[in-house]
Amino acid sequence: MLVRLWELDYGQQRLPHFLTMTDSIPEKSATVKRSLNGSPKMPRWKRQLWGFRFLFRPLETVEARSQTYGENYRVSQPDAKTSLVYFSTPKALEAIFTAKPEQLSAGRGNQILEVLLGKYGIVLLEGEAHQRQRQLLMPPFHGDRMRSYGKLVQAITAQVTQGWKPGTTFQVRPVMQSISLQVILQAVLGVENGTRYEALRQGLTQMLDRFGSLIGAMLLFYPVLRKDWGAWSPWGRFVRSRQRVDDLIYAEIADRRRHPDTSRTDILALLMEARDENGQPLSDVELRDELITLLFAGHETTASALTWALYWIAALPEVRTKLLAELATIDAHAEPTTIARLPYLTAVCQETLRIYPIAMSSFPRTVKQPIEIAGYALEPGTVIMPSIYLAHHREEVYPNPKQFNPERFLERQFSPYEYLPFGGGDRRCIGSAFALFEMKLVLFELLLNWELTLVNTKPIRPRRRGITIAPSDHFKLRVVNSR
Ligand code: HEM
Repeated sequence: MLVRLWELDYGQQRLPHFLTMTDSIPEKSATVKRSLNGSPKMPRWKRQLWGFRFLFRPLETVEARSQTYGENYRVSQPDAKTSLVYFSTPKALEAIFTAKPEQLSAGRGNQILEVLLGKYGIVLLEGEAHQRQRQLLMPPFHGDRMRSYGKLVQAITAQVTQGWKPGTTFQVRPVMQSISLQVILQAVLGVENGTRYEALRQGLTQMLDRFGSLIGAMLLFYPVLRKDWGAWSPWGRFVRSRQRVDDLIYAEIADRRRHPDTSRTDILALLMEARDENGQPLSDVELRDELITLLFAGHETTASALTWALYWIAALPEVRTKLLAELATIDAHAEPTTIARLPYLTAVCQETLRIYPIAMSSFPRTVKQPIEIAGYALEPGTVIMPSIYLAHHREEVYPNPKQFNPERFLERQFSPYEYLPFGGGDRRCIGSAFALFEMKLVLFELLLNWELTLVNTKPIRPRRRGITIAPSDHFKLRVVNSR
């Protein structure tokens, strides 16, 4: 028998206009009353507080809700016309990721990213246009094409760390970001140096850092705050840095159009050769949106993942010891593919992405046709949030889920609906293999050449970075010695 989520619902509540983020606190459930010490109605300020709580403490908020309402739960949307449903059980996630595109769509739910990525990047596309872009973009991030970037990853890591000496203390995230940005720029644009490359590198870092702060996240979630009050206002600064990056990208596209070079193998070259079903090439705006999407998706996430991995390795001596013992079993100049096959290194990367997944949920899926998910009947317009974080913290799948334990990945295999750091279905990350490959090579290079120690005495907490979850910027390491 179908259970209608409505029956378990907490009622729809109209929220203040400015609270346009896709999360809000349900109001009328008995559970909520209990959690509010019997308060029959949640006052408006409390609802606002919950909205801010999701912004500032996203993981704690979804965890608190799932503890209160159960593993699959619904919250009302700001417009009170649609509702948002969080799912985290393997059964529900399987139903979501195997649904047909005419039943669930993802592009619409990503509109929050349009200010950053534009309308035409793969993340916002739907239907056939989306499928076409995926088929075009998948090959360069897999197989031999992906492996051909191995030496480059190692060389960039060596170059970024060449100035280190014993006593050097560094903030980890910016260093990891510098590595992953250079790698993705090379893959996407095929450039490694030159004035435009340098300007693009700096411009992208600046632009994305604007969304990395909490003020930046508020700009994403609260469109009403997007006011250009000059170059010093938060939105004004973002708009100007986006313009600088766009100018550089359009200049690169124009150069390429003027001087076509068929020997190029980078992704821009691939995109410029592509034709749609009517034989039309992509316009400059479409190219810009696709490039910025790949540059954004392809380096922020990997940088955060690498930062977390270094944190766990530095914070947990037993993990470090096992890892170093494994690295010692292969030659320092081993082929990238040999490094990528190391089991414990692989398990450390997997566990890093389990415990604090960089994306706390997959892209939202909007119900287009009535659908049943795990026994719940969902109406068109309902927005589904496949919760990666909650799925990765299910006690019955991952005993002691708060404990960093790479061995769990050596002991058993997890289904794609139990372990999903890269999402799933027809939206599954196209860069998953590339990201893992890059992570392992960077970690190998760093651990083999440097002895690093924690500077922080307190544990590093996860914090929001735009739409992702990253280690706090306070995380620092010190170089004890070169090996
Ligand atoms: C550790 C690093 C990374 C993580 C954790 C990550 C995670 C994700 C997640 C969760 C999604 C959404 C999937 C869904 O909704 O089901 C996604 C989509 C995507 N990712 Fe990644 N990603 C990473 C690295 C990369 C890299 C290196 C690239 C480079 C190309 C990339 C490109 C994309 C693209 C283009 C999409 C959209 C796919 C689509 O809409 O069809 N990601 N990623």
